[in-house]
Amino acid sequence: NRALTVKKDLAGVRVLITAGATREDIDPVRFITNKSTGKMGYALAQAARDRGAEVTLVSGVSHLKPPHDLEFIPVVSAIDMYHAVLQRFHLTDVVIKAAAVADYRPKSAAEHKIKKGTGELVLEMSRNPDILLELGQKKKAGQILVGFAAESQDLLENAAQKVQKKKLDFLVANDITLPDAGFGTETNIAALVYPDCEPLCLPKMDKIKLAHRILDEVVGIRKSSPI
Ligand code: CTP
Ligand code: CA
Repeated sequence: NRALTVKKDLAGVRVLITAGATREDIDPVRFITNKSTGKMGYALAQAARDRGAEVTLVSGVSHLKPPHDLEFIPVVSAIDMYHAVLQRFHLTDVVIKAAAVADYRPKSAAEHKIKKGTGELVLEMSRNPDILLELGQKKKAGQILVGFAAESQDLLENAAQKVQKKKLDFLVANDITLPDAGFGTETNIAALVYPDCEPLCLPKMDKIKLAHRILDEVVGIRKSSPI
């Protein structure tokens, strides 16, 4: 049992993790979502809890059982997640954004079920707020921000741009075209991408092991910049 053997090196640290997919309604019976299952974010939440952190898990849609001994906040849409995260940010030491957040939502969800016509249906979409970008703008000294990115091309280049733009301490980049990596798998093949040094490509590992590796990185950053 790993919980009994891990070091409590995050004791008292307030860690907010987002996980799962957001879901954007089209009408009362239809929605747009994505392939995130929540496995990586839930593994992070459990690992942080086992290391002594005070964990808040803001979860989009996921079929996983909420882990115990942490604050669990279920949300549905990107806007719900935005409010849940922004409200709590000032009380948080570390934010890890493993959730797959919809970049767009239907401009207005139809009140009634949309009936089919004879031609095409055009759905107008509005931009959702970029939660992590706003956290990067609001972040105070000592707060740590970790992003995730799933890419199907130009992994490291795209990741490096996101690290700079969102003022992240680091980003966990996943190449979803590799086997045994990405959505719904038990394992991941990730690269840690930093603002000021070369990326670190990690070997394939199961998601709980990767979660601990990510938290090791967080502990290292806290040690090197104590506040
Ligand atoms: N993210 C967020 N809010 C959004 C979109 C993304 O907080 N509206 C966060 C994700 O949780 C993730 C990180 O930003 O930690 C990177 O998400 P990603 O979709 O890879 O990046 P985007 O900036 O949305 O760029 P694009 O989808 O165009 O590649
Ligand atoms: Ca996106």
